[in-house]
Amino acid sequence: METEKKTSQQMTDTDLSEQIKKVTKDSHVRAENTELMLSFQRGRVTLQQYKLLLCSLYEIYQALEEELDRNSNHPGVAPIYFPAELARLEAIEKDLEYFYGQDWREKIVVPAATKRYSHRLRQIGKENPEFLVAHAYTRYLGDLSGGQVLSRIAQKSMGLKGSEGLSFFAFPGVTSPNLFKQLYRSRMNSVELTEEERNGVLEEAVRAFELNIQVFDDLQKMLNVTDNKSQNRSLTHSMPVQTLQI
Ligand code: HEM
Repeated sequence: METEKKTSQQMTDTDLSEQIKKVTKDSHVRAENTELMLSFQRGRVTLQQYKLLLCSLYEIYQALEEELDRNSNHPGVAPIYFPAELARLEAIEKDLEYFYGQDWREKIVVPAATKRYSHRLRQIGKENPEFLVAHAYTRYLGDLSGGQVLSRIAQKSMGLKGSEGLSFFAFPGVTSPNLFKQLYRSRMNSVELTEEERNGVLEEAVRAFELNIQVFDDLQKMLNVTDNKSQNRSLTHSMPVQTLQI
């Protein structure tokens, strides 16, 4: 039975893809209910929110994709290594250039929670590459699940014309997100893990969601501080967010 090919309907509850979904279910609900994600769902994401999110995504995907690339031959990474289909870094760079201009590298700002997230990614890339699957799952399957809807919402909320600034959401190498998600799950299930490693991956997935939630909360805090300061001082222009320390 274990060696048989499985379709999505035949997946068993010992499959990593099922276990990871189950252990992160509550975390997913909490992630959906962060102020930042609620703004998306209500169609009220602001340019400031989206720009700050892109800065953090840049830091996160830079670490994630560097560690996946470096460990691409590791047996826990090779089956789920899909740079041509999934890599986000170049798309994020394009979006940052669109919103911040050519000198975007000097302008981007990331809160402490984002630094903690990228630090964790680099640490496991060095010490436990078999845990990278937990982070790749959390980000890429999430992006593939919500991408199209969120892209349209972001476009409408910010009044953007066309798809400029929204490359992050587009996966030109993936024709059917649902079919690709099925393939990805079957690849996750083909990774051989000891009991201890499997538990480690599941724990890491919960941590990955937690790190994302902390990033969203920190970003929102940054924005709220900016809003309050500008209200208090009756500024008509927005405070440069780079000066804030969170
Ligand atoms: C899957 C909604 C935010 C990670 C999904 C699915 C939906 C969804 C409808 C498909 C469920 C399924 O196929 O059974 C949303 C909404 C969000 C949000 C409305 C907020 C606006 C997030 C965030 C993360 C995330 C912030 C992680 C950082 C995932 C993952 C999956 C997923 C990993 C794949 C689950 C699996 O099939 O194993 N999401 N999501 N989502 N989402 Fe989200």
